[in-house]
Amino acid sequence: MKEDTKLAAAGRPHRRPSHPVNTPVERASTYLFPTYDDLIEGGKNIVYGRLGGPTHRALEEGVNILEGGFETRLASSGLMAVNAALLAFVRAGDHVLVVDTVYDPVRKFCDRFLKRFGVETTYYDPMIGAGIEDLMRAETKVILAESPGSLTFEVQDLPAIADAARKKGAKLVVDNTWGAGYFLKPIALGAHVSVQSGTKYLSGHADCLIGTLTSADEATSKQIFLALLQLGSNVSADDAYLTLRGLRTLSARLRRHQENGLALAKWLQKRPEVDRVLHPAFKTTPGHAIWKRDFTGASGLFGAVLKPVAPPALKAFFNAMKLFGMGYSWGGYESLCIPVRPEAYRTANPWTEKGPTIRLHAGLEDIEDLIVDLDRAFAAMNAVKE
Ligand SMILES: Cc1ncc(COP(=O)(O)O)c(C=O)c1O
Repeated sequence: MKEDTKLAAAGRPHRRPSHPVNTPVERASTYLFPTYDDLIEGGKNIVYGRLGGPTHRALEEGVNILEGGFETRLASSGLMAVNAALLAFVRAGDHVLVVDTVYDPVRKFCDRFLKRFGVETTYYDPMIGAGIEDLMRAETKVILAESPGSLTFEVQDLPAIADAARKKGAKLVVDNTWGAGYFLKPIALGAHVSVQSGTKYLSGHADCLIGTLTSADEATSKQIFLALLQLGSNVSADDAYLTLRGLRTLSARLRRHQENGLALAKWLQKRPEVDRVLHPAFKTTPGHAIWKRDFTGASGLFGAVLKPVAPPALKAFFNAMKLFGMGYSWGGYESLCIPVRPEAYRTANPWTEKGPTIRLHAGLEDIEDLIVDLDRAFAAMNAVKE
């Protein structure tokens, strides 16, 4: 079966003589066992609400097919998934390598939380490739990549980084939220764990928070499972259901996000107010050749650096938008546009662009309406400039 067919079939119920199309929501904290022996053996699969029930298992099966892994586990959010993937493999005295373009709350987790427990973090240039070997120490246990970076969209050479990690006995964890498991397969490229904020494209409707962790092998998966178990991460059956429903339409939605994203990016590139578009499908974005080699498409999230403009004019731009929403997420069906500040976070290779950076999420609306909205925003900006 081809991938889209598998995504339609994964985790579906097969009860007879008739059954619903979808795996139902099974809300439960407590599962009862019929006999003493069943209780003591703990039921091999469904034991206690926090460990997940049938709705969770169906979603795990689907995401695992998508990511091509050994096993998938769920976490209470994308941030919990990334942080659990770090905690699973480190102890006091260890060292982790984290890409400089990482999602900022993960950076804070490393700089504040991991540091308190004696784990040191070094941030690396997203374009480092095989050069990462020079930063590795005997105590380096994890390399955390995010490709492309979700503010500035540099694409990383994951096979080269995976080679270095495997040579030196470290785990490569990849934040795969942008590729959504559909356009990028980190496990096939050598990663040990592919993590997603399922809050974004997997669920796809801006109405739940969830994380996924897909491991490449049994030993890695066991470490991930124990970290989640000991941290007490929980996913509601309702959120697992919503995400599984999102998974059914993922490929159709992503193709439309891609189409709208590329059309908007091309339009923006021609605007006199725009200095540079930040999109992996554009030659001007670092790692474009790697994107062409390793990805099969582009999702709807990208950025642009505007030519320098005074703060009141930038404010007018955002306040004039009627269709694009301003909010700190992406991956839903709706378009979003926000100002971002990569210069505030980077340490390994500072962001030195002079103009402001904006981030857009191309939703599923009609492209002509989206362009009218951005055109209106630029007109408002220019009116303040004059
Ligand atoms: C690339 C990336 N990873 C992880 C996360 C965290 O996901 P969540 O909000 O589900 O915790 C986000 C959220 O914006 C993100 O953009």
